[in-house]
Amino acid sequence: MIKHLNDIQDLSSDQIEQLITLAEDMMTDRAKYQSALAHRTLATLFFEPSTRTRLSFEAAMLELGGNVIGFADPNSSSATKGESVADTIRTVACYSDIIVMRHPKEGAPIAASLRSPVPIINAGDGGHHHPTQTLADLFTIRREKGRFEGLTVGLCGDLKFGRTVHSLIHAMARYEGVRFALISPQELRTPDYILEGLRARPNVSYEETDSLESVIPRLDILYMTRVQRERFFNEADYVRLKDSYILTLKTLADAKDSLTILHPLPRVNEIAVEVDDDPRACYFKQMYYGKVIRKALLATMLGVAL
Ligand code: NCD
Repeated sequence: MIKHLNDIQDLSSDQIEQLITLAEDMMTDRAKYQSALAHRTLATLFFEPSTRTRLSFEAAMLELGGNVIGFADPNSSSATKGESVADTIRTVACYSDIIVMRHPKEGAPIAASLRSPVPIINAGDGGHHHPTQTLADLFTIRREKGRFEGLTVGLCGDLKFGRTVHSLIHAMARYEGVRFALISPQELRTPDYILEGLRARPNVSYEETDSLESVIPRLDILYMTRVQRERFFNEADYVRLKDSYILTLKTLADAKDSLTILHPLPRVNEIAVEVDDDPRACYFKQMYYGKVIRKALLATMLGVAL
């Protein structure tokens, strides 16, 4: 039973496997699940912009026969009148069976879960975590590679503020023999609290570098990320760092044919559009898998016997 999902660490490896198995069955036999969540309501509370996360959750709920309410713009909610997150949650819990929430403040979903009688799913809290993006990433890796163990995973871009990277590192560090290449400018290195977690795992190794070219030949997965403009304190720093890495077909010339290129999206400049037609580009498939694994998550968290 998954009560709330704040951090990917809230899920055991067995629970991740069960979600993947259910998602695969949902993909094979979509009709079987079309009324699984009939008469249940999902509320999506997005205090920060979103396209994929919110719409994939909504599509997931609708495909399971459920209902959706919510807001995509906090300016249209009572947050602008000064209402606390706790009060908003207690209210919305009267109208829904499960709540998906994105918030600019780190820890807001935990605060919400403490006051919520219904399950809360963290859809991204500031520069902290994004566990359901990680489920999408894991599901894609499993579909593409057939395994998690023994992979060399390059994470490139804004490793400081990129919440998807933090959650993915936590998740992949569980698997035997995973090697991380953490590729970023000096100013956007992976936070220490994430590295500490890695150092505590003798089964994995990591290296930090600012050179994508030097590590790309060894990678099985390349996870590109956007420089997170909204988390910068000044625009000049963002402008200086935003184009630190741009993946092109030329950069990919030295990569393995079996490389899997991922990106949580949205992309700005960090992957040239010419890469989209390369068979190694998997970021749009990743969006599709994200919807399917969110279906599995909603059905599981709502405790529906399937
Ligand atoms: C990511 C996020 O919101 O953290 N987007 C997403 O949910 N797919 C990545 C990003 O915004 O750069």
